[in-house]
Amino acid sequence: MSRKLLVLTGGGDCPGLNAVIRAIVKSANQYTDWEVYGSIEAFNGILNDPMEVIRLDNDAIAGIHVLGGTIIKTTNKGNPLSYPQSSSDGSVHMVDISDSLVNKIKESGFDAVINIGGDGSQKISKALFDKGLNIIGVPKTIDNDLSATDITFGFSTAVQIASDAFDKLVTTANSHHRVMILEVMGRDAGWIALHTALSGGAELCLIPEIPYNIEVVKREIEKRYKGGKGFVNIVIAEGARALNEEVTGKVDKYSEHIKLGGIANTLRIQLEDAGVKPEIRAAVLGHIQRGGTPIAFDRILATALGKAAFDLVLEENYGRMVCFKNNRIDSSTLEEATEEYNYVDLDHYLIHTAKGIGISFGN
Ligand code: F6P
Repeated sequence: MSRKLLVLTGGGDCPGLNAVIRAIVKSANQYTDWEVYGSIEAFNGILNDPMEVIRLDNDAIAGIHVLGGTIIKTTNKGNPLSYPQSSSDGSVHMVDISDSLVNKIKESGFDAVINIGGDGSQKISKALFDKGLNIIGVPKTIDNDLSATDITFGFSTAVQIASDAFDKLVTTANSHHRVMILEVMGRDAGWIALHTALSGGAELCLIPEIPYNIEVVKREIEKRYKGGKGFVNIVIAEGARALNEEVTGKVDKYSEHIKLGGIANTLRIQLEDAGVKPEIRAAVLGHIQRGGTPIAFDRILATALGKAAFDLVLEENYGRMVCFKNNRIDSSTLEEATEEYNYVDLDHYLIHTAKGIGISFGN
């Protein structure tokens, strides 16, 4: 009798998701008794009536490792521990439907589940494992904010895209003697900003881990305009903030996250108000850095993690998340995987490198 594996992708899309899916299916195809299925839009595919679950066979996964996004779709609004349910009066309230989800997965004949997702998704994996589901996690995020793994797939692609965008802004900064600000993603971690600043050659790098002092930022800019002419390129992480200020974003009704975004413009206004003379322009890179083809490194990492996740299924070693630690593929318990957030360590070698070559963190 064949065994059934369910695969899903949760949270934001990320370059490399399809490469993981392909690696899982190809690994399973080395055995005659495994069939792989994909739940459409995270757990929603299982929860929907009728269910939206597709067979992932060789045809379904052919050549998908080069594609961005996820062929089985995703959502960051499908948390079974806090699931939106509409009442007859049209109001929406959140309910915990995790018990019925676990039952439905088991009753549908799935022997195991692989959940590809970030911090929030792996917390869900942990809760479902505690309720008796045979589940394995694969870490995903462009933000690189999971401490159980040294690097996540999608991050390097995001950095490449941000660096390309940065290079283009340097052209305008230089030609117009302007201050150009590039806002990149990363949530509460400054990894994308730090890497982009180093790769692009920014004068200033503003990250959530180091609240900036607007007077220091102003001083750094002025240093570059000796004699009236000069230009400055700044990279700012979406979760950065000035000393004693809140992050810039909007509260999202159906998500535990604040929707970050807008700090580049906030910084522009702060600098203008502080009397910075040169013209300032702000650009927000947004979801561009999450889209398109994964670079080779991310395809390879994603493939290795997908294969390792299937190995754990074969070993029936559930409740774990695969990871990349100390240059090898490894795994940790889902509990360990989600207990610590991966902030930029202020003693990290790249912080020292940046400071050493004169990049200011505005503090
Ligand atoms: O976690 C990945 C990420 O792209 C963050 O960098 C960003 O803050 C967030 O997702 C954006 O989420 P959404 O796609 O819901 O706007």
